[in-house]
Amino acid sequence: MLGFGGVGLLSTEMLSARRLPNENPRISPYLIRSERESPLSYQLLTSSDKDIGRAIDALHKFKADAVDLNMGCPSTAVGKFGAGVMLMERPDETRRIVAEARKRTALPLSAKIRLGSDADSTKLKTFCSMLEDEGLDMLTVHARFKHEPFARNPRWAYIAEIKECIKIPVIANGGIFSIEDAEKCLRISGADGLMLGRGAVIRPWLFAEIARSVFNSDITERGMLLPDIYANFIEALNADYRPIYHLGRLKAFTHYFALNYKFGHSLACKVQSSRSMDEAIERAGIFFATHSEESIAMRGNNELEKENNECLETAF
Ligand SMILES: Cc1cc2nc3c(=O)[nH]c(=O)nc-3n(C[C@H](O)[C@H](O)[C@H](O)COP(=O)(O)O)c2cc1C
Repeated sequence: MLGFGGVGLLSTEMLSARRLPNENPRISPYLIRSERESPLSYQLLTSSDKDIGRAIDALHKFKADAVDLNMGCPSTAVGKFGAGVMLMERPDETRRIVAEARKRTALPLSAKIRLGSDADSTKLKTFCSMLEDEGLDMLTVHARFKHEPFARNPRWAYIAEIKECIKIPVIANGGIFSIEDAEKCLRISGADGLMLGRGAVIRPWLFAEIARSVFNSDITERGMLLPDIYANFIEALNADYRPIYHLGRLKAFTHYFALNYKFGHSLACKVQSSRSMDEAIERAGIFFATHSEESIAMRGNNELEKENNECLETAF
């Protein structure tokens, strides 16, 4: 969105493998892609190897740069169909899914898992080795058990155990909101890279900060005020999305971005209750004008994470 830099690979949200072949990539809000979004990995959600072939054919048409398989979504709706994190309970079916995906594409193939349903490291490691044996190129691990809420501390040490048993790159995910978190996570997990979820939306410049401080990248520092970042997001919405999606996407973004401000809940509530883009933009403008002294100051990580967790507990 803003060109801060520091991102090695982007990912789409999860996409239903069954529905994907019938989607129009120029219209679907999940598939619209700007030129800047590159390289882009597409994440497939499926519970069966039967849907993989057609879904991957579609991804080749969409010019996907990589394919990811969702094995971490804990939602009950998804679990009911045996997809998401439920795949970790169904290793035989999962093996077939990965084998089929591997057969159908030469693109880099990855999966994103959680730690499973309980503290059974042997089961977890056997599962990860199976994924590697079936030809996976990379594994992302969200370091929480199946039912653990985002408010729980991530369990990065489990990633170190996974690292011991497989050779493919392992990416650590969960609870990274600052340079300090990134350093700590890498130290504990020994992971080969990091994936940011909420931190990426709250602080889009965090990738660049981590790239510079932790990975010694020489990308230039781009100072930007928070209201300008917000305006930039709106510009990107206007450029890439049909108007019908603008307000929903702005509300979702504001939910996280507002955490940069001490009284951000007021910004989030004002935007949340807006009935049009114009109303939301006007309300946000008034908020920014009355909180201009906070526009540059980045808040301490602990405080930010605590509020983020509280906020998520109410949201999910
Ligand atoms: C609103 C929301 C939507 C998400 N959608 C997906 C998704 O489609 N696929 C996925 O693998 N993870 C999804 N996640 C999980 C994140 O990718 C990530 O694993 C999780 O937020 C923990 O990382 P974080 O602490 O850096 O946020 C989602 C998380 C949130 C909050």
